[in-house]
Amino acid sequence: MRRPGRSSAVLACALAGAYALTACGGSGDDSKAALSVSSAYMPQPVSEMAAGFLTVANKGGTADRLTSVTSDVGPVSVHETVGQSMREVKDLDVPAHGRLVFESGGNHLMFDKLKRTVRQGDTIDVELHFATSGAVKVEMPVKPATYRPATGH
Ligand code: CU
Repeated sequence: MRRPGRSSAVLACALAGAYALTACGGSGDDSKAALSVSSAYMPQPVSEMAAGFLTVANKGGTADRLTSVTSDVGPVSVHETVGQSMREVKDLDVPAHGRLVFESGGNHLMFDKLKRTVRQGDTIDVELHFATSGAVKVEMPVKPATYRPATGH
C-alpha cells in the first residue's frame, strides 16, 4: 500500500486549521505531550505545612507546563529551591521527551495550611493541572518523615 506523500499530509494539516495542526506532523502521537506521574509521596508533616514530591515524565514530542496544583487537604503551591532558600513559581515546564522532577532539596509542592491531620499511611488526593494536557490526578501516599526514595531512575 502506498503511503501518502509528505506534501499532501502537510496540506491536510493546513486545511484542518490551527487547532488540529498540533496533532499533525509527527509519526503517531509523538507530537503531543504524553504525561505520566510516578514516585509521588509526602513525608509525614510535623506542622500545618507539608511538602510533596513526584516525577512527571513526558514521552511526547511537545513540552507541557504545570500551571497549578490542588489537593483535598488544602491549598498547594509550587516551589523551587534556589541556593538555600525556596520561592514560589507560577509554572514549571515539562520538557518534550523529558521529566519534571520534584525532590527533596529541589522543586517541591508546598501544602501551606493542612486542613486535617495527615499521618503516615494516609493518601492525599492531588490534582496537577497542565497547560495542554489538562488535569492529572495523583494519589500521594504519606511516608515516614525521614523517608527518602531510592535513587537512580
Ligand atoms: Cu517550599
